[in-house]
Amino acid sequence: MAAPPRVFLPEHKIQERIREMGEQISRDYPHGPLYLIAILKGAFMFVADLTRAISTPTRIEFIGISSYGRGKTSSGEVRVTKDLDVSIEGHDVLIVEDIVDSGVTLTYLLNVLGQRKPKSLEIATLLDKPERRLRPVQAAYVGFQIPDEFVVGYGLDYAEDYRNLRDICVLGEGVAAV
Ligand code: IMP
Ligand code: MG
Repeated sequence: MAAPPRVFLPEHKIQERIREMGEQISRDYPHGPLYLIAILKGAFMFVADLTRAISTPTRIEFIGISSYGRGKTSSGEVRVTKDLDVSIEGHDVLIVEDIVDSGVTLTYLLNVLGQRKPKSLEIATLLDKPERRLRPVQAAYVGFQIPDEFVVGYGLDYAEDYRNLRDICVLGEGVAAV
């Protein structure tokens, strides 16, 4: 762990935006259960706050996907490392993601989950880096659009570090890209 991270989005702004997202999602899905499928591990904190901001009854599920190695760039290879324990057939499903970057992970996951015949399938992401897109993924709910910076905290990691920060931060100088 090198230089200390610099705060990019403070906790109170994240929480305020999640409350707004929750209100909008509650309006859009007045009838539950709404299945929130959080992508491990980065979305664990976001889904915990988002589900409490939604007034419609929700069910929480987790799916594990590996696309990144230990560094800052995608290995380009995507696979399911932990699958859902339940069927989503006939249900409203919202994929909950920490950040959409190249869009490779979500393109893959939309395809995998779409084949399981959900009633509806949309994406809620806290962060979106549209400049980095390689695949045309569009999230129905986006917390913040951010520039092309590598961010950590609030669930997001750099080589498994920094997930526990309450704010979203940009890593300081001296952290080598892997
Ligand atoms: P994509 O397949 O390129 O869209 O990658 C999405 C995944 O990459 C996210 O779920 C994150 O785990 C990871 N990721 C992308 N950008 C960042 C970042 O700035 N910080 C931490 N993780 C990131
Ligand atoms: Mg990650």
